[in-house]
Amino acid sequence: MEFSTQTTASLHQLKTAALGVGIFADGVLSPAADQIDRASDGAVRAVVKSEFRATVGESLVLRNLPGVAAQRVVLIGLGKQEEYKATALASGERAFIAACVKANVTEAASSLASLAMQDVPVRARARSAAIAAGDATYRYDATFGKPDKDKRPKLKKVVHVVAAGDAADAKTGLQEGRAIAEGMNLTKLLGNLPPNICTPTYLGETAKRLAAEFKTLKVEVLERKQIEALGMGSFLSVARGSEEAPRFIVLRHPGSAAKKLAAKPAGKTSGGDGPVVLVGKGITFDSGGISIKPAATMDEMKYDMCGAASVLGTFRALAELDLPFEVVGLIASCENMPSGKALKPGDVVTSMAGHTIEVLNTDAEGRLVLCDALTYAERFKPAAVIDIATLTGACVVALGHVNTGLFTQDDDLADSLLKAGRASLDTAWRMPLEDAYQEQLKSNFADIANIGGPPGGSVTAACFLSRFTKAYRWAHLDIAGTAWKGGKEKGATGRPVPLLVQYLLDRQASRA
Ligand code: BES
Ligand code: MN
Ligand code: ZN
Repeated sequence: MEFSTQTTASLHQLKTAALGVGIFADGVLSPAADQIDRASDGAVRAVVKSEFRATVGESLVLRNLPGVAAQRVVLIGLGKQEEYKATALASGERAFIAACVKANVTEAASSLASLAMQDVPVRARARSAAIAAGDATYRYDATFGKPDKDKRPKLKKVVHVVAAGDAADAKTGLQEGRAIAEGMNLTKLLGNLPPNICTPTYLGETAKRLAAEFKTLKVEVLERKQIEALGMGSFLSVARGSEEAPRFIVLRHPGSAAKKLAAKPAGKTSGGDGPVVLVGKGITFDSGGISIKPAATMDEMKYDMCGAASVLGTFRALAELDLPFEVVGLIASCENMPSGKALKPGDVVTSMAGHTIEVLNTDAEGRLVLCDALTYAERFKPAAVIDIATLTGACVVALGHVNTGLFTQDDDLADSLLKAGRASLDTAWRMPLEDAYQEQLKSNFADIANIGGPPGGSVTAACFLSRFTKAYRWAHLDIAGTAWKGGKEKGATGRPVPLLVQYLLDRQASRA
């Protein structure tokens, strides 16, 4: 999807297949809607009065209004004006784009980003609109026998009409939003692909393809022998039960040297100058292993690589945006399968860090692959490490599908991530991570057990990871509830790519 800006004072003369204008509840028109209403001799007000309540996400297509050049005017419901906020803008833009797709148009114009909003500048409004548009046009058709090309959205271009003084900022926001949306689409595709296609090898190939497309990215894909040489005994113990070969992927976005120098704050350090390291859980299928899962929704465990997919999606976005500082991505990827060679309950394995781990449940495999990746991260002397994982069902119980679980001992890092989540409408909620929970991980036969019993399951999982993160600032995002939707709309969501990219954008702003 292509986005551009246009500054026109006479909206009614804008030639487009579909023009979106915002309507608030109780018959309050946005300035854009008001302009169209005047040009059409009250056509908008008449319709709003009789048949448009303007609830958030509602839309109505009007054709061939007199005095208006646009072929269609799409009324977009934004809810009550005094409650107008970014979520309503995003829902509105999504509804507008859905209406355009339904009408089969190839280009459209939106006026939503021009609408002022308290505390949300035009750059952020444009960014949200672009993310919503990208999200609304994603379709999965990779594994249908005859991909129906007719079902693919024809919409290719969206013009955003903004005030003349806002054009530059809006353009920046649209570029950022587009990069985020494309990153999300990659994340969604990888999450949705079946586990017989999206294997660890496939994730490695995807990383290489990304590096071929964006020349600034560097990628290294380690195979079993190299992973063995690193001493990643915990990660490999999970991989052992599967016929699929494991992969350890190292991505590097160097950030251009010239810009890096310019952006370096004089004498000020905000958590060191090392890279931000993103670590993704890449279990391409989680059967549970010998502690096998029930059959009913086991197919959904193909999404157990969404942490890895969000790292790839984030890298796609930041390569596109060419952010001026270094980011490293690490992905530990394998399958968790039962077999004669598989990890067993009772096994004791040795992690790269040297800690021994008693495996009490082979279904708690995410922490076993992540702990070695977290140890590997030390070599980058990171400013901060953020791991992203579909780690626990307990997190879904605690937070549902609304918020990602955020675990960290670092209040500054917590605040930055929570803020980035709010700004990108990809929210997280902070969970506890106190030493008192560590008790539950005591083992009679090793340094640590891999489960801590049912109470506070998502917290003890984070506690397990915390043992391997002493060398740097660290946060853990449990995306078990937010990375995908179940039910009728089953599929990957692309979260938390918006949160991660926003965090990196904010970091850039604070260092500039
Ligand atoms: N991948 C799962 C977590 C998961 C569950 C994600 C449901 C999304 C939806 C993870 O590997 C797992 O199986 N965790 C166990 C841990 C338990 C054995 C301590 C869980 O949550 O049941
Ligand atoms: Mn599991
Ligand atoms: Zn898992």
